[in-house]
Amino acid sequence: MSDSKTVVTIDNSGVDPQTNFSLNPTFAAIVDSRMARRKFLKGSVGAAVAAFIGGSLVGCGSSSNDDPETVPPETAVPLLGFTAIATNRADAITVPQGYSAQAFLPWGTPLNGSYPEYLDDGSNSGSDQEQQVGSHHDGIHFFPIDARGAGENSQEGLLVFNHEYIDNNLIHTNGITTVPRLADEVRKEVAAHGVSVAHIQQQADGSWALVNNSPFNRRITGATPMELAGPVRGSEKVVTKYSPDGSRTRGTLNNCGNGFTPWGTYLTCEENWAGYFVNTDAQKPREHSRYGVPSANGRYFWETATPAADVYQRFNASTLGAEAKDDYRNEPNTFGWIVEIDPFNPDSVPQKRTALGRFGHEGVIFGKLEEGKPIVVYSGDDSTFEYIYKFVSTAPYHKNTAGGHLLNDGILYVARFNEDGSGEWLPLDISNADFIAKATAAGVTFADQADVLLNTRLAADIAGATKMDRPEWGAVHPETGEVYFTLTNNTQRTAAQIDAANPRANNATGHIIRWNERETQAATAFDWDIFLLAGDVGTQTPGTELELTADNHLASPDGLWFDPNGVLWIQTDMSGSQQGTGPYGNNQMLAADPVTREVKRFLVGPIDCEVTGVIMTPDRKTMFVNIQHPGDRSAPGDFTSHWPDGGSSRPRSATVVITKNDGGVIGS
Ligand code: FEO
Ligand code: CA
Ligand code: CA
Repeated sequence: MSDSKTVVTIDNSGVDPQTNFSLNPTFAAIVDSRMARRKFLKGSVGAAVAAFIGGSLVGCGSSSNDDPETVPPETAVPLLGFTAIATNRADAITVPQGYSAQAFLPWGTPLNGSYPEYLDDGSNSGSDQEQQVGSHHDGIHFFPIDARGAGENSQEGLLVFNHEYIDNNLIHTNGITTVPRLADEVRKEVAAHGVSVAHIQQQADGSWALVNNSPFNRRITGATPMELAGPVRGSEKVVTKYSPDGSRTRGTLNNCGNGFTPWGTYLTCEENWAGYFVNTDAQKPREHSRYGVPSANGRYFWETATPAADVYQRFNASTLGAEAKDDYRNEPNTFGWIVEIDPFNPDSVPQKRTALGRFGHEGVIFGKLEEGKPIVVYSGDDSTFEYIYKFVSTAPYHKNTAGGHLLNDGILYVARFNEDGSGEWLPLDISNADFIAKATAAGVTFADQADVLLNTRLAADIAGATKMDRPEWGAVHPETGEVYFTLTNNTQRTAAQIDAANPRANNATGHIIRWNERETQAATAFDWDIFLLAGDVGTQTPGTELELTADNHLASPDGLWFDPNGVLWIQTDMSGSQQGTGPYGNNQMLAADPVTREVKRFLVGPIDCEVTGVIMTPDRKTMFVNIQHPGDRSAPGDFTSHWPDGGSSRPRSATVVITKNDGGVIGS
């Protein structure tokens, strides 16, 4: 086409935009983080946790062929029974001696029989991609096939996993080359995002296979019809040409971390969604500007798809018509949410749970469940100087009646980490007098709770939350309810901006923070300390015995998960340059004992990948780990990795199935 031009720049680096321009102060004083730790340990819940852990939790570790429920503590093995592996730069998965790893369900795998076949030259069409596993695997969960995901079946289940984004140099034969974009290329890219539901079964030889043509197999993409649920449903700020009553939208995008509910559903998180849109208006509404909706073009120029179609034109969120129902000015307001998906009902319509707030949701994690008490849900906003949030349901949890309605009504809080090791959950609630007083003092008004939720970041600024070093995944200890969060890195923090919870300037390597709620999981006060400062060999975490060694040095912690045995699994997302020039080798996964702070490297991924997303079968004998964007510094036709297919193949994201050769529990 004569008006085509070469795309000069597509920022596919995964670097998060800095959009917190609030004047919300960071703490200026440099406070010894040991002070925080002392308070943490003195806290009543902290003491109770320590007593519990000292008494029995370490004993949860079981030998390879015993039921963990029945193993008395005195016969248990250490939590981390494997030999740590060294860093490396191999184009392969490396796991400890005695373990095996197999790639599974890579990008392009057809979900229904052998059609449409994956084509290694990148020439699969948009319609093909809609029937194939998406790209850039991320958060993952295994739902046992029995009891709607709550059973104990460890040989058959639904594997549900996210597809965060695409690699513009790898998704098509010659990458993304022209603007305006070709509509079928855009169709393929939209379909490579979202979520896959895959019905899987363990075979007689111990390997795992997709159940071809299972009615459960499903793709949810950036175009799948969805509903808005909770306070924002019906708001005038989510009215679009597609949904004049503000109840519906299409698709989920940039699905990073995940979660799952106690009632057998999957939660997918919308992280860096803002960049997919464009708003060329001279004045952008705060619902766009605070989240970094671009002014020139969308991340992949989807809005330019030719021939034009409404499903792609919606990525232009400029004011084009007379009223909101005539255009897509509000389309970005239907993104930035946590989306609930019922994997056991292939016809179910995904629900965007707006009560949980709108931001760059990394992941979502439930606090420890208590019958008759509210449910508690944590989520981090992964952008520089953004916040950590907690949702507490209005209605109590009852196992027999629990469902998605619990996520529609409650109070959203944001965290303030005080210098002395205490912390507070600050309500973002239009019916809270203190919150409204702060808003008034800041000269900010909100029309209703929907307006607060649409502007969650602004509300958190006003409340006085602590600006963090890019909150990523959270994990809750299965017995104690202690909460851990990764803070991946923040090289923009200056010495004057250091605070006790973010204690390093130019924090290139990140850290892990943790806290205990006071009294109950729903409490508004907590006690925190720093679990681990990441970095090179010799890095110490002040106030602890922890000093990193060649067995466990790491940078940019991101994925985080507690297995049922109480092992904390830590995954890294070092940038290409950090992997290339740093002492850490390729991205990796480590295992940590939360009590002793013993940390061991368990897995190293292939070249230029990110290791992200981990889950096990209930018997803990099969682990699923996602490998995202191997070879992501490739140019079209010039690949830096050939994982998992080898030879001269195009690299592709995939799940990895890990088993212990003696059939034992992973990690033991
Ligand atoms: Fe998608 Fe914050 O990692
Ligand atoms: Ca991540
Ligand atoms: Ca990351």
